[in-house]
Amino acid sequence: MSTASAPGKIILFGEHAVVYNRPAIAIPVAQVKATVKVESRTGPVQIDAPDISRRYALEDAGPEDPIATMVRQTCARLGAPPKDFTVRIESTIPVARGLGSGAAVSVALGRALASFLGRDLTPQEICDLAFEIEKLHHGTPSGIDNTVIAFERPVYFVKGQTSESFRVAQPLTFAIADTGVASPTKDVVGDVRRALDSDRSRFEALFDRVGALARAARTAIEFGDIDALGPLMIENQRLARSMGISSIEIDNLTHAAMRAGARGAKLSGAGRGGNVIALVDARTHGKVERALMDAGAVRVIVTRLE
Ligand code: MEV
Repeated sequence: MSTASAPGKIILFGEHAVVYNRPAIAIPVAQVKATVKVESRTGPVQIDAPDISRRYALEDAGPEDPIATMVRQTCARLGAPPKDFTVRIESTIPVARGLGSGAAVSVALGRALASFLGRDLTPQEICDLAFEIEKLHHGTPSGIDNTVIAFERPVYFVKGQTSESFRVAQPLTFAIADTGVASPTKDVVGDVRRALDSDRSRFEALFDRVGALARAARTAIEFGDIDALGPLMIENQRLARSMGISSIEIDNLTHAAMRAGARGAKLSGAGRGGNVIALVDARTHGKVERALMDAGAVRVIVTRLE
């Protein structure tokens, strides 16, 4: 039997603009994870995903099924026939909340299958396999989710380029608050694309400004300039609202976090629901956490970037 896990992720700066070649920053979130167990059995491959109440045979799944496609493509990559094993998937990453649940399942699956088959796949190979599956989940993914999750380190990401890691001069703490609203990335990315098509110059300018924030944020993180980061997050949230990807729930949580003393707060991921992130410190994080719960968050996770 082989077991492997992969973390969730949050986007600190640059969601959506990153689909259109502007830079973005994402970090892994180890407090939530997808775990995949691969076990021997004689016969056709069985997939068991109790969290989504699904149990099915690989041969019954079509090419649009992300889990089945990751199993087939990983086996093809490793030159092994997909047979004589069971795949069991469990995850503590809520689905459609901007935390990378789909990419984490793909990465954990690639790792567990490679280990079960006694083969090695590099993080880049796992990342590439997971990217193909992201296309099934999202349509036109930038690749940031599979990259930050496969490499499990902070990334400064520009689509189509080798992702860069960067120095974190001062530890940063983020409260991650779930609005409780599921928001499939594919739908929001599609809406932003339609909005871009109908007002190209306005949206290109918004994306440029978001990209500039991601660049400035990288410099601030590298130089330990925490005071600069909060205002950059607030500005990113303002631009997200102009793109039409915020929501009442997101606005309530960002305002609650700021009133309770967060340095900055914004949506993270596709928006319209999902999670809000707030930059906190040792002094404020308890108060911000309570304020987020009082404002309607269904749960709050605190993660630290060292
Ligand atoms: C999703 O986590 C981030 C988006 O920018 C989509 C993508 O980059 O593929 C909304």
